[in-house]
Amino acid sequence: MPKLLALTGSPSAHSRTAVVADHALRHLTRSHSGFETARLAVRELPAADLLAARRGEPEIRRALEAVAEADGLIIATPVYKASYTGLLKAFLDLLPQDGLVGKTVLPLATGGSLAHVLTIDYALRPVLAALGARHVTAGRFVLDSSVERGSGPDRLRPEADRPPPGRRRVRRRPARREPAARPRCADPRHRAGARHRADRRLVSPPPPLTTRTDKDPPCPQPSPRPPPPGASS
Ligand SMILES: Cc1cc2nc3c(=O)[nH]c(=O)nc-3n(C[C@H](O)[C@H](O)[C@H](O)COP(=O)(O)O)c2cc1C
Repeated sequence: MPKLLALTGSPSAHSRTAVVADHALRHLTRSHSGFETARLAVRELPAADLLAARRGEPEIRRALEAVAEADGLIIATPVYKASYTGLLKAFLDLLPQDGLVGKTVLPLATGGSLAHVLTIDYALRPVLAALGARHVTAGRFVLDSSVERGSGPDRLRPEADRPPPGRRRVRRRPARREPAARPRCADPRHRAGARHRADRRLVSPPPPLTTRTDKDPPCPQPSPRPPPPGASS
């Protein structure tokens, strides 16, 4: 039976990120039956062993085995200082270099502001790729305000199941085609147009440097003429 592991990297005891990861886990098992599921909250691992990279300690070893045995992973993190958490990184650093080879990964992030909606793509995704994950699905960023916590069971507000505004598909108007800007040239003969360019190709030496200013872009140069047949070099 394929194994699905939800790995969460929040230091919070009452983590919104864990609520989102749970939601995704339930959703996946509802739509694809036959998964064996497990949860791993990095904050529950012994901190000293985690930070000292004691891979052989029983709880760390079991956590690493759980990752090795998983066929698919949900990797969920809150956004901290515009990136994933140091806690998650401390754990990912314990994985072998090929620790995610052959696994499918669904990255998730929660954050307080849409300003960091791209954290998954610019921060987390490169790490997952470095660990060999070949199939990292489109991730999902969820605003923390979409996670309801209170006296009842934690749950996601309906808007959390929709992509945030920055990621919504928008129907774009076709781009207006601007006419290509023509290069400016200080040489008056060049401004005269194509005829001058044709002349130059035949005979003229380059225009004197004194007619140009530093601000002028260089004159477009004609391609060199091939030597006439039989000409000696
Ligand atoms: C130390 C710290 C740094 C944070 N930095 C950011 C940030 O840079 N961008 C952002 O959108 N949210 C930021 N947040 C808000 C959290 O990402 C957000 O509340 C998240 O849902 C918390 O998840 P958790 O409950 O699982 O810990 C920060 C929160 C904390 C505590």
